[in-house]
Amino acid sequence: MNPTLDDRVREYREFIEAYLAELAHRFDGEPQKLLYDAMDYSLLAGGKRLRPMLVFEFCRQCGGDWRKSAPFAAALEMVHTYSLIHDDLPCMDNDSYRRGRLTNHKVYGEGIAVLAGDALLTDAFGVAASIELDVDMKLAISVLAQNAGSFGMVGGQVLDILSESRECTEREILDIQQRKTGALINAACVLGVIAGGGSEQQIAAAAGYAGALGLAFQIRDDMLDVIGDAKELGKATGADAGKNTFVRLYGLEKCEELVERYTRTAICCLDVFTDTEFLTALANSLTKRTN
Ligand code: IPE
Ligand code: IPE
Ligand code: MG
Ligand code: MG
Ligand code: MG
Repeated sequence: MNPTLDDRVREYREFIEAYLAELAHRFDGEPQKLLYDAMDYSLLAGGKRLRPMLVFEFCRQCGGDWRKSAPFAAALEMVHTYSLIHDDLPCMDNDSYRRGRLTNHKVYGEGIAVLAGDALLTDAFGVAASIELDVDMKLAISVLAQNAGSFGMVGGQVLDILSESRECTEREILDIQQRKTGALINAACVLGVIAGGGSEQQIAAAAGYAGALGLAFQIRDDMLDVIGDAKELGKATGADAGKNTFVRLYGLEKCEELVERYTRTAICCLDVFTDTEFLTALANSLTKRTN
């Protein structure tokens, strides 16, 4: 237990939950209310809210008013939630549970689930643009788009599909993971720096932290697919048994070492920030996460 970590995690989580809840209920009178219900169903289902926390903390580290970075934090969580809705579809990972409830398509049907994902992605850019800080918006939007799109998360999901029918090398698995999971974590850390008015050096440091943290995070996700408890995870285990993961390549024990190693690398990137206690404790806590 780390009181600084726990208190700040709670503060960040409560803030983003309230912010997302406020965004979500704006359109109750519209004829496409079913779409909003489907978007809210997944967006407000909880989850760890890691990406918003990273936005807030990097903004704070750069001397910004972290609460004002909420539009970036919410945008990231919207893009992430869309990626999960689509990832769970029968044509992708075909999963039935997510965030402790039935997956979006199981409740709303595939058509609405696809469109709820599309709307979360598109609306995320509108939410990001509503930030009331004096930020380099051109840079911010390009960071979000590059990390979410064909070069980033979507590209990674494509490589994930293409890798299913063959063995991959370590280099290839690293590339898949950096894109499919690392990219949105990168966007969160970098957008936090941008919101806080940070320097180029701080952007580079945040990207370094994110790159290594993203790898540790996905390797732990793949471990939990084997050793985790479905109830605690809020999603099925054994879902990625046929996938090219480090667990398949190296086994659980080596993966534990890799998670530790990438986490140490992430922490080493934080030198340019003065108060690194939270980001260090957060990274360390994720190595042992059970959900
Ligand atoms: C799950 O992400 C998908 C991956 C990128 C590994 P999270 O583990 O952050 O899921 P939530 O947001 O807590 O539900
Ligand atoms: C998904 O990776 C990463 C995304 C871009 C959604 P996984 O397919 O391993 O994520 P889970 O295990 O379903 O959450
Ligand atoms: Mg997947
Ligand atoms: Mg999946
Ligand atoms: Mg997984």
